[in-house]
Amino acid sequence: MAMPLPTSVTKADPASHPTDLLALLVREGEKLGPLEASLDALLVRCAKEEEFTGKEGQVLSLHTHGKIGPQRVAVIGLGKPKDADRLLEQLRVGASRAVKLAKAAGAKSLAIAGPIEGATQIQALAEGASLGAYVFDRYKKEKKPLKLARVELLVAGKVSRELTDAAELGRQVADAVCAARDLVNESPRRVTPRALAQAARKCASEAGLDCEVLGRAQIEKLGMPLFLGVSQGSAEEPQLVRLSYTPARGKNDNAVALVGKAITFDAGGLSLKTAQGMEDMKTDMAGAAAVISAMRLVAALEPPFAVRGYFGACENLPSGTAYKPGDVIVGKSGTSVEVLNTDAEGRLVLADVLAWAVEEKPAVVVDLATLTGAIVVALGPWTAGLFSNDEALADELVAAARAAGEPVWRMPLPPEMEELIKSPVADLKNTGGRYGGSINAALFLQHFVGKVPWAHLDIAGPASIDKERGYNSRGGTGAGVRLLAEWIRRRAAAAVPAPEEKAKASPKRSGKRR
Ligand code: BES
Ligand code: MN
Ligand code: ZN
Repeated sequence: MAMPLPTSVTKADPASHPTDLLALLVREGEKLGPLEASLDALLVRCAKEEEFTGKEGQVLSLHTHGKIGPQRVAVIGLGKPKDADRLLEQLRVGASRAVKLAKAAGAKSLAIAGPIEGATQIQALAEGASLGAYVFDRYKKEKKPLKLARVELLVAGKVSRELTDAAELGRQVADAVCAARDLVNESPRRVTPRALAQAARKCASEAGLDCEVLGRAQIEKLGMPLFLGVSQGSAEEPQLVRLSYTPARGKNDNAVALVGKAITFDAGGLSLKTAQGMEDMKTDMAGAAAVISAMRLVAALEPPFAVRGYFGACENLPSGTAYKPGDVIVGKSGTSVEVLNTDAEGRLVLADVLAWAVEEKPAVVVDLATLTGAIVVALGPWTAGLFSNDEALADELVAAARAAGEPVWRMPLPPEMEELIKSPVADLKNTGGRYGGSINAALFLQHFVGKVPWAHLDIAGPASIDKERGYNSRGGTGAGVRLLAEWIRRRAAAAVPAPEEKAKASPKRSGKRR
């Protein structure tokens, strides 16, 4: 479960700093830095003997027997230096490894030292530490409580406000990611559409956001036949949720709309999945979990534009009341859809929710969805597919994803593939055949966003993993949360001039900073 791991920034010499465990992060081919001379150069000799070179994943640990400040030292390899974004990811992975070693050693305090410069790196370390501490053990009789009470990030220079703020932001981001993981990992008997709406309400009241939840009757009134069609095979009432952040100052235009797929269990409907195919289908609400957590971070980042988060939550089950292959349903936007496969349900719900989001005239809309198995075939298990009708928006998201350490790959929206989703009886059909399955799903969604700059992230791969990897534990990863937070942060920074520039622009107020 998500657990807060207090992280602070401390100015200290690693060799003399008292702590249960000192984790020294070292890039491949670089020296041991602050610990070279201590312990009569013991560490340097050990590194040589054990052929420690700083390769990613290498660890060299030893007990200091109280000869220096730290009780234990673990030297952790980060891998080859490449670029600034890559280093951030290496720091996240390194910090999570440090926390895991601290946990294994039963350490109560952990200090992390290494190639640390500046706020973004501090943020990355704080993220990695908290993300690495996560375990979903709610249903385990035997829980292994984390003894670690605090993590210190050691820096050589002055501890500025900027650095402590960055550590705090990193912890907040990680907490939001872990909250999304909890929702994905929780069993589908608990995370029903109502429970997911309740999670959104709770998030809103804690973060100071507005939250509206509409039930079946209200959704009917609003006119969402595609969404209701998917939900009609289930005994659980569908829930339509809108979370809203309104900026205190600044104009209320340039709104950002975030839309998440929220199928709390996808059995495939009458086009029933195989037993194996539905084992992991409680994770089919990962897009909505990411949107809820991103909205929490939006409230903390306070951008000068409105941000709204939307999802339509329901189950996709076979039953006597279920929608059927052959059904033709006219969606909210007026576009008719022939349902050929009830397991292609995500695009149907998203069609109506995207149409609603777009009616409210946002400047941009981004959706996140565990939409297709085909994207996993195309890009592998860890990379999200990015589809967009807008080059600038796609570039922004790719850049934010790189900095956030969330792999995404741009996919095409070839107009000539439209013929694959044309229906003989309706405007569109909800499947386009086996080839390019993630692309025809995205082309389908594109019909419902009009001319609004839009991006679709197919997170079917990275939303969950089958075994621990880096700072991600088995199960839900919280994919999309860091990417969205970083993207919003950048848009906010681009929208308001920095305080320095403001001062320059208005000489009367120079000298006074805000
Ligand atoms: N939720 C699934 C997609 C999915 C598959 C997510 C595997 C995560 C892992 C989606 O609703 C689905 O069933 N898609 C079908 C579409 C097909 C019927 C056109 C698929 O990918 O097979
Ligand atoms: Mn499905
Ligand atoms: Zn699905």
